[in-house]
Formats: sequence, structure tokens, C-alpha cells
Amino acid sequence: MNKPIIAPSILAADFANLEREVKMINDSQADWIHIDIMDGVFVPNISMGLPVVEAINRHAKKPLDVHLMIVEPGRYVEAFRKAGAETISVHIEACAHLHRNIQQIKALGCRAGVAVNPHTPVSTLSDIISEIDLVCLMSVNPGFGGQKFIENTYRKVADLKSLISEKSSTAKIEIDGGVNLDNAKPLMQAGADVLVAGNFVFSSADPKEVIGRLKNL
Ligand code: DX5
Ligand code: ZN
Repeated sequence: MNKPIIAPSILAADFANLEREVKMINDSQADWIHIDIMDGVFVPNISMGLPVVEAINRHAKKPLDVHLMIVEPGRYVEAFRKAGAETISVHIEACAHLHRNIQQIKALGCRAGVAVNPHTPVSTLSDIISEIDLVCLMSVNPGFGGQKFIENTYRKVADLKSLISEKSSTAKIEIDGGVNLDNAKPLMQAGADVLVAGNFVFSSADPKEVIGRLKNL
């Protein structure tokens, strides 16, 4: 089993102390910083926008993994790139022209990801999987941190792993939502590569230590 790429989700951080939180991530064994962008339309919640991503980027020493939970993401990918995004994931359910959006993200020099909701079968990625760098498998319904992990995700990881090898894709599998020390290892054994963790990290007494425990399962 490879070591997971750990991406703490800043959504669960203390927004009044973002500089401190980003520095904690810099000093930890985390690999990426996951940033959730919610528009109140695609998902029933509003999180943060471009100025906050820019502010995080001013202090971050780890790549920014931006998860766009917004409609018409193509209108904003360039701005998120300029704000510091290194990976940009768009939702398959929000993109009528997914292939175009992926090309757009890649042309900006970003890693391109596709996020899929819990109800969306991974088979819908069949004709895009060889074009992308990341699949963000939602293991909760997007919109909020701190939700319960959906167990069906294990089966989806296995299905996605088969699709990736069948299509000789290099896409990484990212798990987003409800990740903790109970499900992290079985997820990695099922074929995951990247673990996003929000509440489990930031609501603990020692977030840096929890990041280290997720990294060294
Ligand atoms: C949910 C977000 C997740 C969330 C994860 O809409 O996409 O990235 O921040 O948070 P936890 O780990 O608390 O479920
Ligand atoms: Zn996310």
C-alpha cells in the first residue's frame, strides 16, 4: 500500500485565523491544501471565493487543490488559476461540456480533476478518464463538512480502479467527505490515492498529529 496524499480541507479551519491554519498545514506532513468553493446554486451552501484563495496562497507552501462546487465552472477556472490553484476539479453534474472544461483547465497548466457525486456511477467517466489527472469521489453529498461517510464509496473506488487500469489512465483517486482513521486504511487498500479530511483534522486537539497519523496509516 502506498502512502496516501493527504489534503486537509480548509473548510473546517478557523477562518478568523487562516494564516495560522495554513502555517500549521505547511509544518505538517500534509501534501496538498484542499479548498472547497461553493456557490449556493450547485450546492445548498456558500463557502469562500477568489480573495480567500489568494490569501491562502500567499502563505501556502503546499499545492492548492481547488474543488469547484459551482455551476458554469468554465467561467471561473482562469481566475482560480491566477489565485494560485494547482489542481482544479469540476463536477461532472455541473458540466454540459466536460471535455471542453478539462481542456481549458489543462491549457492553464493546472492538473485537471473531475468530481462525482455519491449517486453518479463512475462508468460515466469512461470517455474522460484518460484525459484527467484526478477523480474526486464524493463520499458525502457536497455542500457541508462534518458529514457521515457513505459506505458505498468502497465499491466505487474498486470500480474506478478497474476503469483506470482498463483505459491506461494515470488519474489519481481522491476521497472527499467523512474521512477518518477508521475508513482511511480500507480506502487506501481499495485503491484510493488522495485523502481529503476536514473536520477529522481540524476538530481534533492536535491537527498536525492527526495529519501525521493519516499519512502513516
Ligand atoms: C464537502 C467538501 C469536503 C469537505 C470535507 O462538500 O467537498 O471537501 O470539506 O470535510 P469533512 O472531512 O469534514 O467531511
Ligand atoms: Zn471538497
